[in-house]
Amino acid sequence: MRAIGSEIGKDPKTGKRRFLLNSSWLFTVLLFLQGALVVTGGAVRLTGSGLGCPTWPECTKGSIKPVAHQAQGQLHAWIEFGNRLIAWLIFLVAIAALVYVQRRLKDRENFKTIRLLAISQLAGFLAQVILGGITVLTKLNPLAVSAHFALSIPLIAAALSLRSKVKARPNIFISSTTQLVSRIVLGLTVLVVLVGTIVTGSGPHAGDIQAKRYNIAPRDISYIHADLVIALIALTLGLWLVIRAAESPEVRENYGGKVLVFLLISLAQGAVGYIQYFTGLPELIVGVHLLGATLVWVSCWNFYSIGSTTSISKGKQ
Ligand code: HEM
Repeated sequence: MRAIGSEIGKDPKTGKRRFLLNSSWLFTVLLFLQGALVVTGGAVRLTGSGLGCPTWPECTKGSIKPVAHQAQGQLHAWIEFGNRLIAWLIFLVAIAALVYVQRRLKDRENFKTIRLLAISQLAGFLAQVILGGITVLTKLNPLAVSAHFALSIPLIAAALSLRSKVKARPNIFISSTTQLVSRIVLGLTVLVVLVGTIVTGSGPHAGDIQAKRYNIAPRDISYIHADLVIALIALTLGLWLVIRAAESPEVRENYGGKVLVFLLISLAQGAVGYIQYFTGLPELIVGVHLLGATLVWVSCWNFYSIGSTTSISKGKQ
């Protein structure tokens, strides 16, 4: 097991310092936490706990954590505080990741890229903390809530790329047609997610009854969101067929396999989207849709980020 994380002493054989965790664990945890921040953020909204901690950076006046007999109620306070705790966990794990990269991966050809990705996780934490503060102080303004989600898109992508590069996963050589269609699929996925946050911002699940809403009819924006999803699924199917028809067996298996996973997750997510829409947006299904949105994005970046049109980058992780 390779060493990483918090120090617990020295290896008796080598005399070198031993660490508690193995590297792939640390970077997987970071990716998991970035996703968990989105899902627990949704739980805050869906349980109406958006102002469970009414102040920021403290939870309630004079205390960083919830206090007994808080006016907002213990459940709401702890749900929102849990979301804040995940952000702090990201900070700690991102520091450990940066220390690991700095100490262990200096010899890697792509060290600078890996270090930049690790730093992005810390910078992202700072930005999320500030945005979280703005969200609370503007009493859950939908623009701040949407921006909070939008910021998670590059942060999740960077955490996934960081993990792949630390594990030295090789890139896959794809044709320029496959890359072009992949790019459009990526752009469309980002658009679907961003429009999704506008659907949420115009809908009933604000996080607090007094929170502002976008001045858009929820039905209209839901239709735009769903139409974009139909286009996304059709294009992804096209991408998969192009790969099957024109790429080598290696690309079909590795890249095409990941595109297929993305297609299946998107189909399932689309079904959940329609179910929640036609059943009046029950909290539990909306929560599943939020988890699904995170998985859609992870699976999209998972194929897109390994494709390259230059064979030089093959194996040069
Ligand atoms: C690939 C498929 C899809 C993705 C990636 C996706 C993504 C998202 C995202 C990111 C949100 C915002 C969540 C938030 O801000 O908390 C959202 C909300 C929403 N989506 Fe989708 N969506 C998909 C398919 C669909 C479909 C087909 C429908 C059908 C109408 C739909 C209906 C909705 C509705 C009604 C909301 C608002 C839920 C709320 O009130 O919080 N989605 N979606």
